[in-house]
Amino acid sequence: MSLKLEAETGFQAAFGYPATGVWSAPGRANLIGEHTDYNLGFVLPFGIDRRTYAAISLRADKICRVASTIDTQIYQLDLAGQKPTGLDWALYPLGIAWMMREHGQQGFDCFITSDVPVGAGLSSSAALECSVAFGLNELWQAGLERVELARIGQRAENEVVGAPTGIMDQTASLMAQSDSAVLIDCRDLTTTNVKLGLSEKNLVVAVIDTGVAHRHSDGGYRSRRDACELGAKTLGVSSLRELDISDLPRAKVELDDLTFRRVRHVITENQRVLDTVSALALSNLDSLGELMAQSHASMRDDFEISIDELDLAVATAIESGAIGSRMTGGGFGGAAIAIINQDELFTLEKKCKLAFAAKGYKEPRIFAVKPSQGARKES
Ligand code: GLA
Repeated sequence: MSLKLEAETGFQAAFGYPATGVWSAPGRANLIGEHTDYNLGFVLPFGIDRRTYAAISLRADKICRVASTIDTQIYQLDLAGQKPTGLDWALYPLGIAWMMREHGQQGFDCFITSDVPVGAGLSSSAALECSVAFGLNELWQAGLERVELARIGQRAENEVVGAPTGIMDQTASLMAQSDSAVLIDCRDLTTTNVKLGLSEKNLVVAVIDTGVAHRHSDGGYRSRRDACELGAKTLGVSSLRELDISDLPRAKVELDDLTFRRVRHVITENQRVLDTVSALALSNLDSLGELMAQSHASMRDDFEISIDELDLAVATAIESGAIGSRMTGGGFGGAAIAIINQDELFTLEKKCKLAFAAKGYKEPRIFAVKPSQGARKES
């Protein structure tokens, strides 16, 4: 059964009447540009062909109910009541409803299905938020632009879930296009479609999910954000976006070593995003691979958000013939991506599993993802 149909039948079974419509949104992988979004810099993510489906109908009262194939519970929020807390996974969709409440007052029932892996750094949370936000926008006739929905998704995550994350994931999930990455300027949220043209070169993006779960409401992500803010403040700018490579010598003098390395990652990563866009325009795969390698090294050594499993995944991908590989997402676990010839995918999978087993790590999951379209109405 398709996930869309499963959402419809799940809705009928949970609530006893049919859904008005089904909306979906993809998870994302980030090609390059990590921890640059909350520094108002550049990112280059793409939507993946793993999506979350939300079957929704409006109700006559202010009660919002969500259920899913994840568990058998029905979670509930009263739009006239208090800000939601607890609620497990349902905090994401109900947090969206809470944040959108000035745009619609009617409650709703919602049933969720998804094949976006959870905890793999592929933004299952953004897919969940954006599918529901996109559906509510239509049902409530709120008339919000995709960019405004992305901001609402980020606010739900920051203010309701309590994770101090940036705007990349929601923007990617809403703005992505097939076979393309989306260059996002996080200062003003302008987006540019960047054609990837991978299939013409028989290339795929492989995800190597280490199976090491991460949470961005924990300390590591927040402390990186704090270090960036401290760096910007010490250097007298409103955000690290105001700085470029030419500011590094001054930064080295004015900052303590740790803050300097955090700042260096962000400044060089912004440049790498722009260089990656140029490399893609020229189909310069060597340069793309080199930029991904530099990005990974910078996250490992300067930003210190990689883990051994991710470093091993990246090294093994390169040994298996990948043209480029790096960890993707917030770090401290999750997945690496590798751009590799379709025919080498099986070798990559075999080698990664062997390498992980040799170190006594949990068996990684390897699968290809296709750059896919952002949020859409399914029916
Ligand atoms: C997580 C956050 C994003 C971004 C990345 C790191 O995915 O949700 O906002 O900061 O980490 O690039």
